[in-house]
Amino acid sequence: MQECTSVIVLDENSASREVIKSYLDEYGAFNSIKLFGNYQEGFEEIKNLDGNCIVIMDITNIKYGTIEIAEKIKLYTPRLIITSTDYSTNTIVKALRAGAKEFLPKPIIKEELVRVLNMFSYYDNEKDNSQAKVITIYSNKGGIGKTTIAVNLASELSKVTKTKVALIDLNLQLGDVSTFLNLNPPFDVNYVIKNLLDKEENILINAFEKYKETSLYVLADPSYIEQSESITPQQITELFRTLKKIFPYIIVDMSANIDANSLKILDCSDIILFTTIVNIPAIRNAQRCLNLFHSRRYPKDKVKIIINRFMDNDEISIEDIENTLGEKIYWKIPNNYFTIMDAINKGASISEISQASNIGTNFRDFASKISDDIIEKEITRYRV
Ligand SMILES: Nc1ncnc2c1ncn2[C@@H]1O[C@H](COP(=O)(O)OP(=O)(O)OP(=O)(O)O)[C@@H](O)[C@H]1O
Ligand SMILES: [Mg+2]
Repeated sequence: MQECTSVIVLDENSASREVIKSYLDEYGAFNSIKLFGNYQEGFEEIKNLDGNCIVIMDITNIKYGTIEIAEKIKLYTPRLIITSTDYSTNTIVKALRAGAKEFLPKPIIKEELVRVLNMFSYYDNEKDNSQAKVITIYSNKGGIGKTTIAVNLASELSKVTKTKVALIDLNLQLGDVSTFLNLNPPFDVNYVIKNLLDKEENILINAFEKYKETSLYVLADPSYIEQSESITPQQITELFRTLKKIFPYIIVDMSANIDANSLKILDCSDIILFTTIVNIPAIRNAQRCLNLFHSRRYPKDKVKIIINRFMDNDEISIEDIENTLGEKIYWKIPNNYFTIMDAINKGASISEISQASNIGTNFRDFASKISDDIIEKEITRYRV
């Protein structure tokens, strides 16, 4: 465990702190083990270490500010273990939502702690963040709303999860994510792929443009169309592998084409938000694309169907669409051309233009649902 030689233990119970320390001493891989009953002081130390540490934090006694401290810690280090004597689903969800990589019920079983420390050591060596999620917005038809959804979902997800969210424009020839947000990122995806994938995190992250005062980081499409032609599927795999070390959520916008790079993006995605609208040609197209996904044997739950521009009085009902596609609809986004165009023209997210509009609240709820579903899937690990 070369990179992570300090452990910070935040626990109000002094006996429990000593037990954890004895396990860590026995594990024997750390230069320093610091124990804190005062969480704010512990947090200051985590900041001093620039997050280069493992944190074990007890939340048995959740007070005002406890969860907020966990949320701040996760911005410094992904190696956060939360413990509690209460291991109800509710507490586990709170812990994971706050940013814990692992939840350990108390009293901590030594072997369990060793398992998690080994896992962190694996992360150090492999530098792979297996819990990070690549979420791609896709439709095999152009103009369906992919970019609108990618931009606004990413922006809401960064607010809901209070963590780093990357928004990557992999519409390699006709990207417009930066136009939607009125950004001018210093580098583009082509430059990052060719020059920065082997660099340190702080260098790589500077190639992204941070969107205002949020935790949303945007990476633009290649500046010149011919550059997109030199990007290979292997480089796309490498891009995701590298970004997953930095960003817990990676939202991808892409083109409607099906070519080798597109298939690689779809294969590498953990979740595909497959988007369609309510009209017969679009649904027929959707059906063809779902057949393609079936033939690629994507796991159940990887592909989620989104209806964009939904109107209550549409002639075709949601039930008709579900029957035709043989799949449930995951989410519906209302039609609201005026608000969306206003946001695009102002180069802002919808929530900045009209948070209370039907489309503003829809995107916030959509982001909450996705993050809740990811957490829900995570906690199945804790159910016996
Ligand atoms: N929910 C919605 N209600 C009304 N208009 C919408 C909605 N979603 C998207 N639009 C409009 O549809 C148009 C196309 O949207 P967008 O650019 O996001 O699609 P796209 O799928 O990314 O297109 P392309 O395939 O060209 O990349 C935009 O003018 C946008 O304002
Ligand atoms: Mg687009």
